[in-house]
Amino acid sequence: MPAIELTNVSKVYGNHKNKFTALNNINLTVELGEFVAIVGPSGSGKTTLLNIMGCMDSPTRGECKIMDRSTTGLKDSQLIHIRNRVVSFIFQHYALLNNYSVYDNVTLPFAERKMSKHEKKEKAKQYLSKLGIEDLFHKKVKNLSGGQKQRVAIARALASEAEIIFADEPTGALDSTNADKLMEILCNLNNEGKTIIVITHDSHVASYANRKLFMKDGSITFDEPLIVQKEA
Ligand SMILES: Nc1ncnc2c1ncn2[C@@H]1O[C@H](COP(=O)(O)OP(=O)(O)O)[C@@H](O)[C@H]1O
Ligand SMILES: [Mg+2]
Repeated sequence: MPAIELTNVSKVYGNHKNKFTALNNINLTVELGEFVAIVGPSGSGKTTLLNIMGCMDSPTRGECKIMDRSTTGLKDSQLIHIRNRVVSFIFQHYALLNNYSVYDNVTLPFAERKMSKHEKKEKAKQYLSKLGIEDLFHKKVKNLSGGQKQRVAIARALASEAEIIFADEPTGALDSTNADKLMEILCNLNNEGKTIIVITHDSHVASYANRKLFMKDGSITFDEPLIVQKEA
């Protein structure tokens, strides 16, 4: 089953006098279990594409399917369900609550769920230890380093137990050592079966993915295949 299927997706910002086409008739299928990098210059439409794939925004034209289900015409409650349970996001600037503890941040996805305090705590510990940061449990986010914050953001994304993980420039605020560590974490998650779609403008970061999509002016200009044939 495809994780994501986009058919003739366009996105136009602004009104008739001041129109800007950010996505121009995109057709794209991402299968479950793929690790895709979306590469392209600033302004090429990467974030717009990711937001539409993740149900954070709707296309002006065309259809988006997530796990074989069209997102057109869904009620708010259904969209919220997808954003809470089916997809999760990791952002460049982490999007964490700075004045709260690591525990509070990682358990945010549980807010809507019927879980005991004990269950929440155990789950949070499970995901923090997966990222090697269980010792940060009680720390306030504002006291962490950039690399630590990004790991907390990943732990939070994992806590939602979503099948598809979107990351928008997740290494943008990290030094190269922490960027490599982060990409290795994403590789491990992909090996465990998660579908990962990551935006980057760094070709080294993109080299961790199995498939690269190049974007320019709202179009996918090149879709590098999963298996690169060796030269004879
Ligand atoms: N809310 C918006 N209103 C108007 N234009 C927008 C909006 N969001 C993005 N854009 C424009 O759409 C284009 C693509 O933006 P974006 O998807 O953020 O590109 P990227 O992530 O590749 O840098 C840019 O030219 C940007 O200025
Ligand atoms: Mg962007």
